[in-house]
Amino acid sequence: MRIRPLTGFMGAEISGVDLHQAIGDDLGQALRGALAGHLMIVLRDQHLLRADQKRLTRVFGPLMRLPYVEPMAEDPEVIAVLKEADEINVGVFGGDWHSDFSFLENPPGGSVLNALEVPEVGGDTVWASQIAAYESLPTDLRRMVDGRMAVHLGAPYGVTHAPPAEARSGASIRMTRGDPEADRERLHPAVVTDPASGRRALFVNPIYTTRLDGLTTEESAPVLAALFKHATKPDFSCRLRWGAGDVVVWDNRMSLHYATNDYDGARRLLYRTTYAAQPPV
Ligand code: SIN
Repeated sequence: MRIRPLTGFMGAEISGVDLHQAIGDDLGQALRGALAGHLMIVLRDQHLLRADQKRLTRVFGPLMRLPYVEPMAEDPEVIAVLKEADEINVGVFGGDWHSDFSFLENPPGGSVLNALEVPEVGGDTVWASQIAAYESLPTDLRRMVDGRMAVHLGAPYGVTHAPPAEARSGASIRMTRGDPEADRERLHPAVVTDPASGRRALFVNPIYTTRLDGLTTEESAPVLAALFKHATKPDFSCRLRWGAGDVVVWDNRMSLHYATNDYDGARRLLYRTTYAAQPPV
């Protein structure tokens, strides 16, 4: 297995591995180590079946069914992230900086995306290392987040953030809105520690974090705006140009991600699986 870092802070391309076969302990450990070190890993040209993808996902943690997103009818552990060629000027799933489902009591540890069909141009995904973001936080912002909890809420998705409800189309991925469980405030540390590496990361979510504990929404707004601006700096990011057959694993606690929406007229289909982890600390 060879590991080629893609940027200074995150993302690595792994080669020399065939994921169609059973993944032994040594390889599993090497893949987990690569993810802990690079936060996002891509294995090119794998063309995985759903069973292969689920086997890969289990290397990182137990498969987790995502609430609020409609899974594939024939496979409830898999979500088809789809935008059809004729869906013009609509929002896309994940089309804003976020980590997944941080409004849950135990947000996903990470996810796997398996590219079936990708546009010739566009449809890249971008990640940003929140370890790099935390480590370079200006002192005044660091003082605001160290030892503090942040409040997360499901409600802003589709309201103040993409994709807006009116832009969702029948063929796209569908999310349940207005569920009181998702719209209940949940608190997580604003800085979390990666159990694998011991490194600390900023854990605030541009979509779901509505305020900092101990501050009102109004008091939090300028602080959160500064944190989000910092957290999504291109300096900390890695932009992936997809090829059909590529498979990506990312750490949902240590990074943010963003699905670019610049490929109207082309079809894009990826299968997505998610794994659970211990609650963030
Ligand atoms: C997501 O999981 O947020 C979507 C990522 C993508 O479609 O690139």
